[in-house]
Amino acid sequence: MTDEQTSTYAGPTRVFSGIQPTGNLHLGNYLGALKKFTTLQNDGWDGIYCVVDLHAITMPYEHEVLASQTRQIAAAMLACGLDPDQSVIFVQSSVRAHTELAWVLNCMARMGWLEKMTQFKDKAGKDAERASVGLFDYPVLMAADILAYKATHVPVGDDQTQHLELTRNVAGRFNQYYGQDVFPMPEGLIKGPGARIMSLKDGTKKMSKSDPAENSRINLIDDADTIARKIKKSKTDTLGDMPSDVEGLEGRPEVANLVGIYGALADMSDEQVLAEYGGTGFGTFKPALAELAVEHLAPITARMRELMDNPDEIDAALRKGTEKANAIAEPIMDEVRRIVGFWRP
Ligand code: TYM
Repeated sequence: MTDEQTSTYAGPTRVFSGIQPTGNLHLGNYLGALKKFTTLQNDGWDGIYCVVDLHAITMPYEHEVLASQTRQIAAAMLACGLDPDQSVIFVQSSVRAHTELAWVLNCMARMGWLEKMTQFKDKAGKDAERASVGLFDYPVLMAADILAYKATHVPVGDDQTQHLELTRNVAGRFNQYYGQDVFPMPEGLIKGPGARIMSLKDGTKKMSKSDPAENSRINLIDDADTIARKIKKSKTDTLGDMPSDVEGLEGRPEVANLVGIYGALADMSDEQVLAEYGGTGFGTFKPALAELAVEHLAPITARMRELMDNPDEIDAALRKGTEKANAIAEPIMDEVRRIVGFWRP
């Protein structure tokens, strides 16, 4: 697999991103994804934001709560400031283009490409033979999500880098096979301080929904006391106070993570955070970080709760989003069906 695909695609720029309705959203999802979505929207980008429920069923899950978890992610998108009139906010399974295009792209993707995907290896664990075919095929569905809208930019955390590379390879192969640049080569919008938020208990492990240690992450629905407690209890090290420059963060993954979180919340670089807190003890820095996190998240949590108590508002936004998403994807699917050679009456 190579990542040197190019395309002469000259269509409009368009952002697409998705979040799975599995487990509680955490600070990593917020800083790596949600916060960027709102910034992009407010900077005037056309954006399509999707609750990817088809992805959520690739692993064992609780089907009784999927719909409510789907609403919860939509509530988070709205609470973070996505506006259903400016952006498209919808649920993946309500737009058919995703599954149909995934099938076409399955016939472009190569087994060898998918076998290299580290997320499959991580999630399937030792017993890959027993993993669902859906889990193996997950990255092709993700490529279809993006390409069904000819999206050019994809804001995600850095754990999605490999999936984006696969998307470009699939797009490139389609363009090459059919001899026309139908699809763009979507670019990740990954860089920035929030791209990889680590566990509060282990600075070498990603903050994750599936970590059994509750104190390893800050959930978007945590109340202020819980957030403050988790930050105060977060792991640091015994190598002294806060360093005064970025070099001093080397070999101190937990401290680097806390500095990164502070910077991502306050829109400051590590240098700027250390210029302010270098030389202080964690007894000063941790409460400041807790206060900043609460200040940032409390209004979002409050709005999320309000929306969850009023699911009609969420559903109305999602219905509008479904219509808008279909209106973009259907002409693209018509083009794909024609190019692939499917019979049309
Ligand atoms: P998901 O649902 O696991 O995560 C949602 C978003 O949160 C980011 N993220 C993080 N960012 C920084 N630090 C972390 N610790 C952290 N943990 C998660 C993820 O990178 C992601 O941006 N495959 C995707 C969903 C998806 C998608 C798509 C994304 C499906 N189709 C098309 C973009 C475009 C996923 O599982 O995200």
